[in-house]
Amino acid sequence: MKTITIGNIKLKNPLFLAPMVDVTDLPYRLICRKSGAAMAYTEMLHINQILHENKKTLNLLKTSKEDRPVGIQITGDSVQQFKDVIPYIKKYDLVDINCGSPSIRIIGNQSGSYLLKNPGKIAEMIKTLKQANLIVTAKIRLGFKENNVLKVAKTIEKAGAELLTIHARLAVHGSSVPADWKQIEKVKNNLGIPVVGNGDIKDGETAKAMLEIADGVMIARAAIGDPEIFERILFYLKTGKEREKSVKNNIKYIKQYLKLEEKYDIIDIPRIKRITSNTLKGFENASKNREKLMKLKTYNEIVNFVDSLKQQNF
Ligand SMILES: Cc1cc2nc3c(=O)[nH]c(=O)nc-3n(C[C@H](O)[C@H](O)[C@H](O)COP(=O)(O)O)c2cc1C
Repeated sequence: MKTITIGNIKLKNPLFLAPMVDVTDLPYRLICRKSGAAMAYTEMLHINQILHENKKTLNLLKTSKEDRPVGIQITGDSVQQFKDVIPYIKKYDLVDINCGSPSIRIIGNQSGSYLLKNPGKIAEMIKTLKQANLIVTAKIRLGFKENNVLKVAKTIEKAGAELLTIHARLAVHGSSVPADWKQIEKVKNNLGIPVVGNGDIKDGETAKAMLEIADGVMIARAAIGDPEIFERILFYLKTGKEREKSVKNNIKYIKQYLKLEEKYDIIDIPRIKRITSNTLKGFENASKNREKLMKLKTYNEIVNFVDSLKQQNF
């Protein structure tokens, strides 16, 4: 199996859980790691959010000794902010700069994918973090409106980043536009640092195909509600055989996830419902079960509901 090294961090395999707003909190990262993800990140946090330290952000900043190696993903619009945030982000194994978010709020702040318009600014941000001896990586798209991926990638490497993740779409592209993996291959062939490919990985076969192009593979949507995907991909990489998705296995993971949400005191009912509802998608009684789930109001009701799923045949 391919391994991948980021600075001085050696990963056990090349599978990355993508940073995802409203999904990848500490408990979700922990269950994906149990399933086999070697690397995971906090969801994207705007530096202003971190500096203001409200309760929701403090929850999103939580990590634990089992949550390693872990990256904090940040974005912002000014180099000064990147200086100011350093004391808050030192405890993570690395810092990933989000240069890909197409969210209107984030672009409005000249952050996220807006940064792709100004690779020089990204370079300054990287250098600022490097001066504090942090391991720095970046996650980019192919460009904002126009493809400038090679220029951005080379600038990021030159500034000292230790790894680059490419989500192979423009910022103006929705997820219905297929990811253009050829662009990932092009960048990989022109860069010395490890390149992680992202976009439309959904099973063992697509993960293996991406690993033929890139050093690592990052999974986002397909991992929402299906933490077991990492187990299945690892199985495919070992055997060449696709294992069927098991809702029973995923329900076990979701039970652990619920316990961890309580343990770390970060219960967020809408988030839990969205993730659990995805777990049920495509299986027997899915719409009935999801309807029931959506009506629940408390943490205990959700725990009981997930327990009751054990009796069903999936
Ligand atoms: C619900 C959701 C939240 C996301 N949040 C983030 C984020 O916080 N940071 C980031 O870099 N990308 C974020 N993304 C983008 C994904 O990390 C990934 O680049 C994109 O979904 C393509 O990968 P996929 O085809 O495996 O879904 C998010 C995507 C989704 C679906």
